[in-house]
Amino acid sequence: MSHSEQDPNTNRDPGRTTPRRILIASVVAAVLVAVGAGIYSAGIFNPIAQSPDREADRGEQIARQDAERRQAWLAERKEYTADPKATPPGLPVAETGYFIPNDIADAPDNQFGDSVRRGYEIFTNTQTNASQHVGNGMNCANCHLGAGTVPGSAPMWAAAVEYPAYRGKNKIINTMEDRIHGCFTYSMNAQNSPSGSPPPRDGDIYKDLQSFFFYMAEGAPLEGNLPGRGYTVPPKPEDGYSITRGETVFENNCAVCHGTDGEGRRDPNGRWIFPALWGDDSYNWGAGMHRINTAAGFIKHNMPLGQGGSLTDQQAWDVAAYINSWERPADPRQIRDGLTVAETDERFHEHTPNFYGDEVRGDLLGDGIPGEPTAQQPPSIGAPRHSQQASR
Ligand code: HEC
Ligand code: HEC
Repeated sequence: MSHSEQDPNTNRDPGRTTPRRILIASVVAAVLVAVGAGIYSAGIFNPIAQSPDREADRGEQIARQDAERRQAWLAERKEYTADPKATPPGLPVAETGYFIPNDIADAPDNQFGDSVRRGYEIFTNTQTNASQHVGNGMNCANCHLGAGTVPGSAPMWAAAVEYPAYRGKNKIINTMEDRIHGCFTYSMNAQNSPSGSPPPRDGDIYKDLQSFFFYMAEGAPLEGNLPGRGYTVPPKPEDGYSITRGETVFENNCAVCHGTDGEGRRDPNGRWIFPALWGDDSYNWGAGMHRINTAAGFIKHNMPLGQGGSLTDQQAWDVAAYINSWERPADPRQIRDGLTVAETDERFHEHTPNFYGDEVRGDLLGDGIPGEPTAQQPPSIGAPRHSQQASR
């Protein structure tokens, strides 16, 4: 993002004192940031080319091509449905080889389509449309970019066909509902939400999200393990990873949007424009993103926003280590099972690279976040985390 700067000396109005100019300059800056963020979130910056203008053109052209290919595939399939002797269609794939999902704008005008659209709204604006179950500043689409469509950003069209599936995390077969329940528990930190828990089982939030995923995935093979699924983790560098090097990567490439303390940024109406990377408003210690390998995969392919692929593998690992070396909301399994951080570490955090339970900068990571609860987090519901703090 290019910042235009306001030179206060060009303003000759004698009635304006310096503090007032500073105030005006900050308001202007805030507006610029908000407008810039609006442009980003409108998806004009397609994570493909370097120059913003060419990028937008190419992005549009690619989107048109994809839409045409998808339409051609639907026509072929219709033909095959009507006549099994016709050639069965292959996969609807883009020039890049990745699956082309159905476009939400084409969802049918019936009850199923309504559910798809509601699912889309929940996924992209979880803060508003599932607010009772969100205990941080996140939306699903913050980590599943392009409203869950972008390959390499754990796209939902690739996930939709993979469940039920066995997961090592909880050692049982998981349905898609279980999976979503887990995302609310950890990535959305439901323990500090107004209701204190993920959406009730079998409820509309699950149904609508699954309609949305299912619709996008139309034509994907069952158990396809399609290319672009998940976050492909770049090989761990020979040198391992370093918080110190990661700090430099962060300051040069990330702080401009996510804030120098990883706190993210809101617009003047309190809506999040850049999500928090650590602290109160971020994912908790049980979320997949707290793992350095998983975060390195996400960051390598998707960050800095609009410039995915620009960091080296080493930089991606280092900065993933850095953002995950700060305190964040407690692991809900620690509270649930009444464990110490050390016990939780041993039970749940041993097999992946992460800093849970380690001492970094003299602080034991995993024991919650210092500081007062915010207004959105009623102390009774935020109790787990705050009682942790009390015992620090
Ligand atoms: C903080 C980032 C973050 C947020 C926010 C988030 N997720 Fe995820 N999601 C992840 C990560 C990381 C994984 C992969 C986890 C792993 O590798 O274990 C994942 C995986 C998934 C999967 C499985 C993907 C697959 O291919 O198997 C689904 C489905 C999913 N998320 C849905 C959601 C939904 C629905 C929401 C919102 C309620 C959400 N996520 C919010 C980070 C996030
Ligand atoms: C131009 C602004 C911008 C820059 C620079 C940027 N990000 Fe992001 N980042 C975003 C936005 C916006 C999102 C949410 C995307 C969405 O909702 O579509 C995001 C999402 C994320 C997420 C997942 C959500 C969360 O809060 O945990 C992580 C992790 C992340 N960025 C890390 C980084 C890292 C590391 C860097 C530097 C290498 C970086 N970002 C640079 C704008 C930026």
